[in-house]
Amino acid sequence: MQSAYWNRHLVTNSSVSGNASVSRLLVGDIVQRLIDINPQAYFTYRDVGQDPIPHLTPVSVAGVRTIAQTEQELETRALSDQLIAELQAADLIVIGAPMYNFSILSSLRTWFDHVLRPRVTFAYGASGPEGLLKAKRAIVVESGGGLYSEGPSRTIDFQEPYLKQLLGFIGIADVSFVRAEKIGSGPKERAAAVASAGEQRERAIRRLAQV
Ligand SMILES: Cc1cc2nc3c(=O)[nH]c(=O)nc-3n(C[C@H](O)[C@H](O)[C@H](O)COP(=O)(O)O)c2cc1C
Repeated sequence: MQSAYWNRHLVTNSSVSGNASVSRLLVGDIVQRLIDINPQAYFTYRDVGQDPIPHLTPVSVAGVRTIAQTEQELETRALSDQLIAELQAADLIVIGAPMYNFSILSSLRTWFDHVLRPRVTFAYGASGPEGLLKAKRAIVVESGGGLYSEGPSRTIDFQEPYLKQLLGFIGIADVSFVRAEKIGSGPKERAAAVASAGEQRERAIRRLAQV
């Protein structure tokens, strides 16, 4: 039985590794599974790895955070509006998020800089911050060269807690993480990571799609 929300998906990739990318491979597998479940599903693709969004600068930041007046601010506002509209239209957001320097790629961070907008995707009320995006789920693929889900490096994982905070802040609290770890340790470990991620993906999709 499919849930009513299982129709419109936003797919955001951020890897810069092209065909060698593990997160792209796993995001592609997720998309294929979503199509298997619902061939009528509608997908929007936003690839900030291949087609980066400009970083915010002194001449553009007001377009996202305050009042857009100059040409550059209005351009930034238009891009932010478009990225937020893609997010608002989606029931499920699939994000490919490689680990770079213990966190995420700056291109993905820049995407968040454009979609975390006061009074549009979050607001501060009497009881603190409130996420304004409702009834959305996310699956985040995390690829990394090392091992962070357990062991001594657990405390320096600024990837998963950060993504949880960013998404939760705009109201997306139901996030399934699919981890592919130890990719840098060799082909055997890479294959094991991809296989393990496949199992995590299936668990996530079964829960979300109720199949
Ligand atoms: C600039 C750079 C920084 C990286 N930093 C880390 C890191 O801090 N921790 C880690 O485990 N892997 C790190 N890696 C390895 C990547 O996470 C790994 O190659 C992963 O497969 C990238 O995802 P992708 O294959 O989808 O591009 C780094 C790679 C690059 C190129």
